Amino acid sequence: MSENIIKLKNIQKYYPMKDSRLHVLKSIDLEIKKGDFIMIVGQSGSGKTTLLNILGFLDKFDEGNYFYKGEDVTNLSEKERSKFRNTNIGFVFQQFNLIPTLDIYKNIELPMIYNNRYSKEEKDKRIKERLKKVGLLDKIHQKPLELSGGQQQRITIARALVNDPDIIFADEPTGALDINTTKDIMELLKELSQQGKTIIMVTHETGLLKYATKVIRLNDGIVVEEM
Ligand SMILES: Nc1ncnc2c1ncn2[C@@H]1O[C@H](COP(=O)(O)OP(=O)(O)O)[C@@H](O)[C@H]1O
Ligand SMILES: [Mg+2]
Repeated sequence: MSENIIKLKNIQKYYPMKDSRLHVLKSIDLEIKKGDFIMIVGQSGSGKTTLLNILGFLDKFDEGNYFYKGEDVTNLSEKERSKFRNTNIGFVFQQFNLIPTLDIYKNIELPMIYNNRYSKEEKDKRIKERLKKVGLLDKIHQKPLELSGGQQQRITIARALVNDPDIIFADEPTGALDINTTKDIMELLKELSQQGKTIIMVTHETGLLKYATKVIRLNDGIVVEEM
């Protein structure tokens, strides 16, 4: 049996509104194992992004417990949360979020600057290795907007991998891509999951569910189906 990397127990999330509050997640229980390729699906507004942001420590929740590798991380301080994010998690977004004024080298370097762990030589080595992994070493000194959408998404995956995270979070990573490029990106994510990375992805494209080892369907803030 492979190890549990994440366990959520009875997670509840509210967004404050003018005179009330919106109950967005209503008791979420989840177990995610190392190397799982999880897809979170559900209608627009069902709470997918909220759940992903909670899992990725980008957002807080109001009730319940979050266990990471068996340790209760529910009550970490802001500083510990940001360290946790930087060490354990890589993010891939629909809109790439690359910085247009920086070249590819500098974009991939960014997460390593924030955590300040590596020497210049080590950073250089990591950037080149990750670029090679996504097949774009020759683009190292280009700017993001000189690349196609699919290439930019590969760069964000290289960036997400640079600190050796356990988990990659991806919110609609192929939402801005055409069919062929989507397939390339999905194959790359699948390869990473087979190499032991845990992938947690939000999508509304049913054609992509075949890549998942587990599908979690949200409806109005609860998990209605697990496949
Ligand atoms: N920051 C926020 N403040 C208030 N309401 C929000 C906020 N973010 C999302 N919501 C609301 O919470 C619900 C779930 O949103 P979201 O998690 O983005 O759903 P999904 O990603 O499934 O479309 C929606 O009704 C949305 O309008
Ligand atoms: Mg969303």
